[in-house]
Amino acid sequence: MPDHSSRRSFLMISAALLLSGCKENKKTKPDKQIFSDPKFELIDLALQHEFGAVVQYGNHAGVIASLKQESNGITTAIEEIITDEVHHAVLLTQIMKENDVEPSIAVWPPQTAETPNLMIQKDIAAEVGAIKLYQQILSLDFDTQTKIIIEKIMQSEKLHHHMFSNLLLETV
Ligand SMILES: [Fe+2]
Ligand SMILES: [Fe+2]
Repeated sequence: MPDHSSRRSFLMISAALLLSGCKENKKTKPDKQIFSDPKFELIDLALQHEFGAVVQYGNHAGVIASLKQESNGITTAIEEIITDEVHHAVLLTQIMKENDVEPSIAVWPPQTAETPNLMIQKDIAAEVGAIKLYQQILSLDFDTQTKIIIEKIMQSEKLHHHMFSNLLLETV
């Protein structure tokens, strides 16, 4: 028979060690700054926007795939865009961590709609919002390397806008 009391003791000791480790971490790690510079609020907003796009486009790709006759490669195209948005989120998270600012894991509210056409319209609106946000970020005094990354992300959003505009024509 298994010895429940010794297993229980082992678990309690493990939990106590974990907790003491957490306390130790808190003591040794410097406090993270949240939005040490207001310009990082915009990077954080963009990060939330990227996470929201992943959820929204994932929903739209799946719903459209379920409507077999309307799918026509739309789902595959949206999945390609989702891959880009995940990469954008990784880049923004890296920028924030390298500047010692805690990156968000919040998600900008994703939206769905009744028909593929209405869904793609919402996706185009999301891309317009992203382009405006990155234009705003580029007007701030970030270092050159960050600006190069943000510029590349913005060009990617412009391509997405173009792709969704073409997909919209397929859903009419
Ligand atoms: Fe993006
Ligand atoms: Fe995008």
